[in-house]
Amino acid sequence: MARVTDTIGSKLTKRRADNPLRTFKRLFSYYGKGNCKVYFVFAVIATVLYDIATIGASFMMRPLVDVLEKTMTYQSADPALAAASAKYFALLIGMACLYVTAMITNYALNRLMLECSARVMYALRKDMFAHMQELPISYFDGHTHGELMSYFTNDIDAVREMLHHSITQIIISVISLVGIVSMMLVLSIRLCVIMLVMGICIFLIVKKISTLSGKNFKRQQQVAAQVNGYIEEMMEGQKVVKAFNHEDVVMKDFSVMNEQFCEVGTRAHTYANVVGPIMNNLSHIFYAITTTVGAMLFTGGATAKTGILVTFLQYIRQFADRLSQISQQFNFILLALAGAERIFELLDVPVENDDGQITLVNVKEDEQGNLTECDEKTCKWAWKRVTDNGTEYIRVQGNVVFSDVDFSYDGKKQVLHNVSLYAKPGQKIAFVGSTGAGKTTITNLINRFYDISSGIVTYDGINIKDIKKADLRRSLAMVLQDTHLFTATVMENIRYGKLDATDEECIQAAKIANAHYFISHLPDGYNTMLVSDGANLSQGQRQLIAIARAAVADPPVLILDEATSSIDTRTEKLIEKGMDSLMEGRTVFVIAHRLSTVRNSDAIMVLENGEIIERGNHDDLLKLGGKYYQLYTGMFELS
Ligand SMILES: Nc1ncnc2c1ncn2[C@@H]1O[C@H](COP(=O)(O)OP(=O)(O)OP(=O)(O)O)[C@@H](O)[C@H]1O
Ligand SMILES: [Mg+2]
Repeated sequence: MARVTDTIGSKLTKRRADNPLRTFKRLFSYYGKGNCKVYFVFAVIATVLYDIATIGASFMMRPLVDVLEKTMTYQSADPALAAASAKYFALLIGMACLYVTAMITNYALNRLMLECSARVMYALRKDMFAHMQELPISYFDGHTHGELMSYFTNDIDAVREMLHHSITQIIISVISLVGIVSMMLVLSIRLCVIMLVMGICIFLIVKKISTLSGKNFKRQQQVAAQVNGYIEEMMEGQKVVKAFNHEDVVMKDFSVMNEQFCEVGTRAHTYANVVGPIMNNLSHIFYAITTTVGAMLFTGGATAKTGILVTFLQYIRQFADRLSQISQQFNFILLALAGAERIFELLDVPVENDDGQITLVNVKEDEQGNLTECDEKTCKWAWKRVTDNGTEYIRVQGNVVFSDVDFSYDGKKQVLHNVSLYAKPGQKIAFVGSTGAGKTTITNLINRFYDISSGIVTYDGINIKDIKKADLRRSLAMVLQDTHLFTATVMENIRYGKLDATDEECIQAAKIANAHYFISHLPDGYNTMLVSDGANLSQGQRQLIAIARAAVADPPVLILDEATSSIDTRTEKLIEKGMDSLMEGRTVFVIAHRLSTVRNSDAIMVLENGEIIERGNHDDLLKLGGKYYQLYTGMFELS
C-alpha cells in the first residue's frame, strides 16, 4: 500500500514552478478578479510611507547626534545652550512623530494586504471549484481524491501564506532597501563601498542556505502529501484493514513515513532557522568593521562626522534586517509559486465540451396537438431546436437509439463494439451479462458522461451531441450502481432529484420506492441527518433513497443500474408495484444481475465483452438456449 501512496506522492511532488514569472503574473491578475486592486495600491502607498517614516526617523540621528555633540561643548551659562536644547527636543519630537507614522502605516498596510489576500483566495477557490464542476468524468477517473483535495489544501495554503506574509515583507524590504541605499549614498560614498562588499558576502551566504533549506522544504511538502494520502486511504479502507488484520502492517508503513516527515521537517527548519542567527552575527561583525573603518576615516575631522557615522551604522543594521527578511521569504515564495502553478494547471484542464444547442423546455399542448413553450409546470416537455427557419418543438418521448456504437475509456482498450439497440418510448430495456461486460458503460454514454468513439446515439431522433448536456441529463434520471448520499437530511437527499419538489412530492416518491416505512422509523424521520455517504443506513436503505430521488425527478427516461441489488427479495417484491408505476409511460433501462428483476422487460440485451450477443424478450431468449438461458438456469441451479 505504501507503493500506492508513493505514486500519489510522486504526482504531488512538483513543488517548484517551471515558469515563476508567468505564474506570478497570472496570480497577480487575481487582484483584479478579487476586486482588490485599489486595496493593493493603497497597501503599496502605505508601504512607501512606512519606509519613508522609518528611514527618515533613522536619518534624524545625524542632526540629533550633531546637536548633542555641540551642546556638550557649551558652558551652562552660554545662551546658545538653550537654543541647542530646544532644537534637540524639536528633533526628538519629530523623530517620535515619524515612528508613530510608521506604526500607523504598518497597521494599515497589514490590514490592506490581509483583505487583498482573502479576496484573492476567495476568487481563486471559487474559480477552482467552478472549474472542477465542469470537468469531464474522465478527469476524475484519472485523479485520486487525495490529489484533488491537495489543490484546495496544500497548494491554496502555500499561496495564501505568500500573499498574506511574503509579498508584504518583500514589498516593504525592497522599497526600504532602495531608500536605505540612497540615504547611505547621501551620507558617505566611501562607507557605501564597504557596505557593498558586505552586502555581497551576506547575499552569497544566504543564497547558499536558502538553496539547502529550499530543497528540504520541497521534500517536506512531498512527504506531507504522502502522509496525507496514506491517512486518507487508510481511513477509507478502514473496514478492509480491520477485516484482514492489517493494523500492524499499516502502523509500520505509517511510522516509516511519519519518521521521514519528522526528519525532513526538522532539517528544513534547521536550515531556515540558522539564517536568522547567521544574519544577526554577520551584521554585528560588519557593524564592528564599519565602526572601525568609519572611525579611522573620520578621526580628527569636523565634529559633524560623528553624526554621519552613527546614522550610517543604524542604516547598516536596517540593511541587514531587510536582506534577511527577503532571504527568509524567498523559499516560501518559490514554494507558493509551485502551488500556484499546480492550481493553474488544474484551471487549464479543458472543460467538458458542450456544443449542443437543443434545449429542454416546458410545453403545453393545444387540442390539435401543437406544442407551445410555457413557464407554468405542465409536466410536458419538448426539445427546442432553433434554426434559421424558425423554432421547432419536438415532443420528449424517450426514444433512444444506439447505432454501431464503439467506445473506449482510454483510447486504447475497446470496451464497446458495434453496439446497436433501440428503446421505443415507454419500453423497458434490460441489460444483462457478466461482470465487466459493459452494461454500466452503455448507460454512461446515454447521458454523455463519456463521448462515443464512433457510431451515433439519438434521443427522440436527435443526435445527443446536439442536445445541451445539462438539458439532456435533466431529461434522464439515474440510480447509479454506487449510490451516493450527501451530508444532509433524508428529505434533502430525495429532493436532490428535483430541487423544487415539495415535501409531499418527496414523501410520495419515498412511498413509491417503499422507503417511507423505514424513513418514518428513523430518529427524526425525514429530517434525520445522513452523514458520510449515508453511513448510518444499510446499503439497501441507501438504494431505496436513491430510487426515491429518481422517482421525484419524474423524467421521461429512467436508468436503473443495479438499483435493487442490495435490497432483499421480499422488499424488492414490495417495491415492484411502486417501481412498475414509476416505470409506466417512461423508457427505462434496467441493469440487474438478479434476472427475476428483468424478466418482464420488453427487450433484454445480453452483453458479453462489450458486444450485444443476444436480444429478445425473456421467453425468446429462453427458447434460444444461449447465454441468457445459461445465466437464467444457472441462477436457479445455484439458488
Ligand atoms: N472509468 C473507467 N475507466 C477505464 N475503464 C473502465 C472504466 N469503467 C469501466 N471500465 C472498464 O470497462 C469495462 C466495462 O465496465 P462496466 O462498468 O461497463 O461493466 P459492467 O457490465 O457494468 O459490470 P458490473 O456488472 O460489474 O457492474 C470493464 O472491463 C472495465 O474494466
Ligand atoms: Mg456496472
